[in-house]
Amino acid sequence: MRLLMLAARSILFMRAHTAVIPAAGMGTRFLPATKAVPKELLPIIDTPALQLIIDECMGAGIDHIVVVTSHAKPAIEAYFADAPEVVAKLRSTGRDHVADHLEAIGRDVRISFAYQDVAMGLGHAVGCAREAVGDEPFAVLLPDEIMGDSSLLAQMCDVSAATGGSVVGLKHVPREEVSAYGVIDPVGEMSADGVIRVATMVEKPPLDKAPSDLIIIGRYVLTPDVFDCIERVVPGAGGEIQLTDALRMQAEAGPFHGVLSTIRRYDTGNPFGWLTAVVELALDDERIGEQFREWLQARL
Ligand code: G1P
Repeated sequence: MRLLMLAARSILFMRAHTAVIPAAGMGTRFLPATKAVPKELLPIIDTPALQLIIDECMGAGIDHIVVVTSHAKPAIEAYFADAPEVVAKLRSTGRDHVADHLEAIGRDVRISFAYQDVAMGLGHAVGCAREAVGDEPFAVLLPDEIMGDSSLLAQMCDVSAATGGSVVGLKHVPREEVSAYGVIDPVGEMSADGVIRVATMVEKPPLDKAPSDLIIIGRYVLTPDVFDCIERVVPGAGGEIQLTDALRMQAEAGPFHGVLSTIRRYDTGNPFGWLTAVVELALDDERIGEQFREWLQARL
């Protein structure tokens, strides 16, 4: 009976099919590499981090991507443009599979662009995507964080479709690290599959004001009323409009849940995190993994 009720509930609300990827930042933690190359296009082995994020979206059933970029980063749009000369060269030399792969970029999923030309925070970046998203639930993926697979995002989309509310990805961190993140205040017990209700949340609290050790990771599924909340957010320190402040308004007004992530996650927004992601994923790579493992073992 309970299962039947859950199934009935799960078709009451629309499932997100659009994802917003904020990619307008200057990448200051990665200079000088990011002076000319957007950090979202830095390679993880041979694939831009942005593409891995898009692959994660597609694996979760998302078919429309809104990239929030800035006019100062033309390379982001260039990545999705046709490249007829390279494709022709590849085909003439018999490398059709690489040509096919290249031609699929930006065609296997609908890509839209929105622009954020002033750095005014994550909430502002998401607000810039309002028109492209429309009046529907949507996902937000911070491209600094790379996940091992699409399962967390897919589960978050399902929870949002079942509850009609917004959902954030969560992770436990050691207490002394909470002040670097958005931190939630949970209510009640966590379900066996890691879902918990969220009463409220706070952005980068001092240690003694943190409501828990559960931080918000860079995965969100949001209902579209968040856009009105973002417009009501007062800029905080540094003039930044925080997404967490808009989400707090949602959580205090209606259903809001978190899903605890148990999958692999890499913070690729800084050189050390990027390097560990590249090494770990290279060890697993079916093309170069074995050779790389042998080299690394000999080197160590
Ligand atoms: C942003 C969010 C924060 C979240 C974090 C996850 O912070 O504002 O709530 O916990 O991403 O990485 P930022 O990393 O931009 O300071």
